[in-house]
Amino acid sequence: MVAPADIVQKSKDYTLLSWSAQGAWNPIPIERGEGVYVYDAHGKRYLDWSSQLVNVNIGHSHPHVVRAIQEQVAKLCYVEPSSTTGPRARLGELMAEITPGSLTKTLFCNGGTDAVENAMKIARLYTGRQKILTRYRSYHGGTFAAASAGGDPRRLANEPGVPWIVRMPDPYAYRTPLYQGRTQEEGDAIIADMVEEIVQMEGPEYCAAILVEGYSGTSGVIQPSGVYYQRLREICDKYGLLLMVDEVMSGFGRTGEWFGIDHYPSAMPDVLATAKGITCGYVPLGATVVSDKIARYFDDHTLWAGLTYSSHTLAMAAGIATIEVYRSENLIERSREMGKVLRQGLMDLAEKHPVIGDIRGAGLHQLIEIVKNRDTREPMSPFNGAPSEAMKKAAAYLKSHGVSTIVRWNMIFNTPPLIITEAQIQEGLHVMDGALSILDEYYEG
Ligand SMILES: Cc1ncc(COP(=O)(O)O)c(C=O)c1O
Repeated sequence: MVAPADIVQKSKDYTLLSWSAQGAWNPIPIERGEGVYVYDAHGKRYLDWSSQLVNVNIGHSHPHVVRAIQEQVAKLCYVEPSSTTGPRARLGELMAEITPGSLTKTLFCNGGTDAVENAMKIARLYTGRQKILTRYRSYHGGTFAAASAGGDPRRLANEPGVPWIVRMPDPYAYRTPLYQGRTQEEGDAIIADMVEEIVQMEGPEYCAAILVEGYSGTSGVIQPSGVYYQRLREICDKYGLLLMVDEVMSGFGRTGEWFGIDHYPSAMPDVLATAKGITCGYVPLGATVVSDKIARYFDDHTLWAGLTYSSHTLAMAAGIATIEVYRSENLIERSREMGKVLRQGLMDLAEKHPVIGDIRGAGLHQLIEIVKNRDTREPMSPFNGAPSEAMKKAAAYLKSHGVSTIVRWNMIFNTPPLIITEAQIQEGLHVMDGALSILDEYYEG
């Protein structure tokens, strides 16, 4: 057996960590996972309060999915994409069942980034136009085009990126001045009017699509109301653009619906890109789902996109089994119900801790924004800056008390697996209470 210290040292010596300077990396060597918990090589247990990267929705080591993978491995792991398999046929059918509106045909790939890349290619091929409109506060993936599409600062070091991305303003009610004295819906309508004006100024005949997250994720769960999505749908229809939703993070029950966009039935998308919860990371998989109309276009036009591992047989089997788990354990409804418990718990913490400036989200997709002062709303850690001492201390407290989650700038993610119980939510909230007490010491109210 390799000693835990060796695992860490060799990982540091021989592997690179994404999105980080390498020197300060001090990883926990994780050995196994079960349900909502992961265990490190010393046997210490962590409550997985973020579902890793908001993807392990069914929890760790689910026996149904483990068995399906084991059975598939023994039979066939892979065939090239122009052959087909029973698992591919079935997962395609399931995707048509669970995705909204007339979304019917799926191009399978390896993860969220390539699902978004494929969506953008499809929009450009289908419309014959080039530009894609996206939000500043969004993330769509790590490759050049997907990173350019996201407005998130992770794009900055590799700029200029692809030249055909156009950015739209964000419906950030908590921080954008135009929302002051207005309701969320009123502010969202103004932001949507600005989007229409951007389309006009960019030339509608050059604009292929609007791409937005179905429910905002790592940029801060900055979610508009249905007014915004309905107006986007109208703008797309009026000017001949496709409406594309990125459901990589918000899909598969995370927000209490199958997909984030399901909260807004009047804004059915033409293209949906997803990944993460489709297999919960048991095997990597991404998917780009298109409407009937777009699918028909490609009956006699070449789909200029492809990957060696498109429709990977093992990933197909994992996807089927994962969707079976969502269904048999009613995890979409469970996310909604447990989401209420989590939300109430966070609201109770906000009564006690003035550092909680805002709580946003739906289902088991909840974020708290930490501020130095509730009146000024000054963030406890600056946007895109090094983490403040306060946030670092809070993150260290969570970790040392056995709660693993994402702490980014002044935001703390509360996005546990959808199988979490009420008692386990209380367990996480109890530790969060302690972390917030540390943050309260830095409050400047
Ligand atoms: C909304 C969204 N889109 C795309 C991606 C990229 O997915 P992946 O990291 O699987 O390539 C992510 C990853 O977090 C995401 O949250």
